[in-house]
Amino acid sequence: MNVITMASRKGGAGKSTLTAHLAAFAHQAGRRCVVIDADPQGSVTLWHSLRPDGQPPLRSGARGIDRALTSAMVEGYEWAFIDTAANMWVVAQEAIRAATIVVIPARPGFFDLNAVRETVATARERNKPYAVVLNATPPKRGEREAPAVAQSRAFFDKLGIPVWAGQISQRSSYVLTLAAGASVCEGIPDPVAPTEVERLWTAMERSVAAINEARGAAGLAHGGAAHGEAA
Ligand SMILES: Nc1ncnc2c1ncn2[C@@H]1O[C@H](COP(=O)(O)OP(=O)(O)O)[C@@H](O)[C@H]1O
Ligand SMILES: [Mg+2]
Repeated sequence: MNVITMASRKGGAGKSTLTAHLAAFAHQAGRRCVVIDADPQGSVTLWHSLRPDGQPPLRSGARGIDRALTSAMVEGYEWAFIDTAANMWVVAQEAIRAATIVVIPARPGFFDLNAVRETVATARERNKPYAVVLNATPPKRGEREAPAVAQSRAFFDKLGIPVWAGQISQRSSYVLTLAAGASVCEGIPDPVAPTEVERLWTAMERSVAAINEARGAAGLAHGGAAHGEAA
């Protein structure tokens, strides 16, 4: 099972927002996916309660991440998106441990960028692939990124922290759609946001495929032990 864990010790970075939009996109693209809400604040649960068809299905992480993942796997889901809380680090760490890849949303601001380090350290300690996603960024001018985005990339480059090449811009459609139980991929007249989410999903799916391939190869080299792992 492919597990995408959204994590960041910074509240308001965009964990819940990205979880909802990515999961809705993946579902629409035909992936069998489930959303796990591991944040007692329940942002994703609230969004999900407004969805007319209840898709993709939601599971609570309240009784433990591993338990939620195991039952999702038994039910045949291929993808899990886990939303975590900034202030419940023990649960977030469990979600990081279970991750195929850790996605760390960050706004392009000095304090926000620095707050990423702790999450990166946890992912590194656990030997988990991770990437920062710049969220709520100023818009591009044509193909040119805003100075704040370019600066953020330079900051992470210096620290050797991988950053997704795209951006999720600051756009009201990311907020308004969620408030209506929808996502930016569900027929809204925004020319930018659906493309951004599609690009992020495509990058994510490619990364996960590469991770799985590398793991498969390592598994073969070690007698197949890594093959077919839960996460
Ligand atoms: N790309 C974006 N454009 C506009 N508003 C956003 C964007 N990402 C997040 N927000 C808003 O910022 C706030 C915090 O986002 P949220 O996803 O709840 O962060 P977290 O889950 O990391 O605490 C919310 O009000 C959300 O609607
Ligand atoms: Mg949240």
